[in-house]
Amino acid sequence: MQASIGFVVFLSLYLFLSLPYPSLGANAKCNSNDRKALLQIKAAFIDRYHFVSWAPDVDCCEWYGLECDPNTGRVITLSVLAGNLSGQIPPAIGDLTDLQILIFHKLSNVTGQIPSAISKLVHLKQLILSNTNLSGPVPSFLGQLKNLTFLDLSFNNLAGSIPPSLFELPNLGGLRLDRNKLTGSIPDSFGNFVGTAPDLYLSHNMLSGPLPKSIGNVNFTLEIDFSRNNLQGDPSLLFGKNKTVHFVDLSRNLFEFDLSKVEFPDSLTNLDLNHNKIFGSLPNGLTELTLQFFNVSYNSLCGQIPQGGKLQSFDNYTYFHNRCLCGAPLPDCK
Ligand SMILES: *[C@@H]1O[C@H](CO)[C@@H](O)[C@H](O)[C@H]1NC(C)=O
Ligand SMILES: *[C@@H]1O[C@H](CO)[C@@H](O)[C@H](O)[C@H]1NC(C)=O
Ligand SMILES: *[C@@H]1O[C@H](CO)[C@@H](O)[C@H](O)[C@H]1NC(C)=O
Ligand SMILES: *[C@@H]1O[C@H](CO)[C@@H](O)[C@H](O)[C@H]1NC(C)=O
Ligand SMILES: *[C@@H]1O[C@H](CO)[C@@H](O)[C@H](O)[C@H]1NC(C)=O
Ligand SMILES: *[C@@H]1O[C@H](CO)[C@@H](O)[C@H](O)[C@H]1NC(C)=O
Ligand SMILES: *[C@@H]1O[C@H](CO)[C@@H](O)[C@H](O)[C@H]1NC(C)=O
Ligand SMILES: *[C@@H]1O[C@H](CO)[C@@H](O)[C@H](O)[C@H]1NC(C)=O
Repeated sequence: MQASIGFVVFLSLYLFLSLPYPSLGANAKCNSNDRKALLQIKAAFIDRYHFVSWAPDVDCCEWYGLECDPNTGRVITLSVLAGNLSGQIPPAIGDLTDLQILIFHKLSNVTGQIPSAISKLVHLKQLILSNTNLSGPVPSFLGQLKNLTFLDLSFNNLAGSIPPSLFELPNLGGLRLDRNKLTGSIPDSFGNFVGTAPDLYLSHNMLSGPLPKSIGNVNFTLEIDFSRNNLQGDPSLLFGKNKTVHFVDLSRNLFEFDLSKVEFPDSLTNLDLNHNKIFGSLPNGLTELTLQFFNVSYNSLCGQIPQGGKLQSFDNYTYFHNRCLCGAPLPDCK
């Protein structure tokens, strides 16, 4: 839960950086093919507000929610944010072939599938289709958009499994598939992230099975949130002294492993393991971390809570509902 502070800041930053600025004149006129595609997009939605400024007698680079490349007049950003519009994203989107940023966000009446025409947008750096009512699969073709640095499909009704191709995107800094209806396991291709790996948000889905072994090779830099799924087995391969991850939320899954032997990276500040089937005792290494948030409640842990570091700065709700944890802040061991 607490780990989400990281991603809120992260998302706001992305959205902020993505907001289109009004163009400042003395620029190339809007490309006529882009203009045609935009008018088809406008026609695909029932809307009273968002597309009002998209008037045929105005240069399309001046239309609301757009940014053009000043040299070419090609549309490079299209953002449709928080409006009352209904409809489906039409295939014409694929004709905006210079797009680098595409955002449909907070539009609960935008329905249908993610159109395959998006596969033509090879220059995309950010694709954000979030808080809409999109359904159908997470398309495998997204793995072809090699310049993607941020892919956010969170808060939709997407179903099916995670396509292995997504884990081969070489420049991805963040992947959000959280709050959908995804099933199946996390693919093996996951280990293909070498060097810097994206922040990964897969929470609030129905993912199952153990984590792939390959995930142990991945060096996550900031955040992993796998909470609220049905994941099983031993996730301790996510940790290790050498790693650089800061926020890890594995809460509300079916993870079952011995915590006593796990070595945590020094970078770790937020660890949420509540509601799993974790056994063993809390390792002494936890006292060496500068933890800001910690929750191991609702597991099967036992033994004395190590004394020191930040561990006594948390209250009993960090530790309660375990088999036999004892010592401050819980009652003394017998
Ligand atoms: C969605 O569509 C319904 C029916 O047309 C309408 O009542 C509702 O206000 C719309 N909601 C939003 C957020 O656009
Ligand atoms: C949203 O649009 C629908 C028609 O498309 C309309 O019935 C509804 O009143 C609108 N809602 C708001 C909040 O504007
Ligand atoms: C999403 O779409 C489904 C139909 O596809 C509809 O039943 C549901 O009310 C929609 N949800 C929202 C939040 O608009
Ligand atoms: C991807 O990004 C790199 C560096 O920004 C750029 O040189 C390259 O042309 C881009 N490729 C596409 C298909 O946009
Ligand atoms: C830690 O990383 C170094 C190289 O950065 C490597 O040689 C070593 O095997 C790693 N140790 C573990 C336990 O992964
Ligand atoms: C993770 O990245 C850090 C910094 O980039 C590096 O020092 C460390 O050796 C890496 N660890 C692994 C397991 O690759
Ligand atoms: C947790 O501690 C508070 C006082 O700090 C106490 O009132 C409460 O009963 C404790 N709860 C449990 C589950 O031990
Ligand atoms: C830890 O998680 C449990 C279960 O969700 C919750 O009741 C408790 O308040 C959490 N503790 C803290 C310190 O957040």
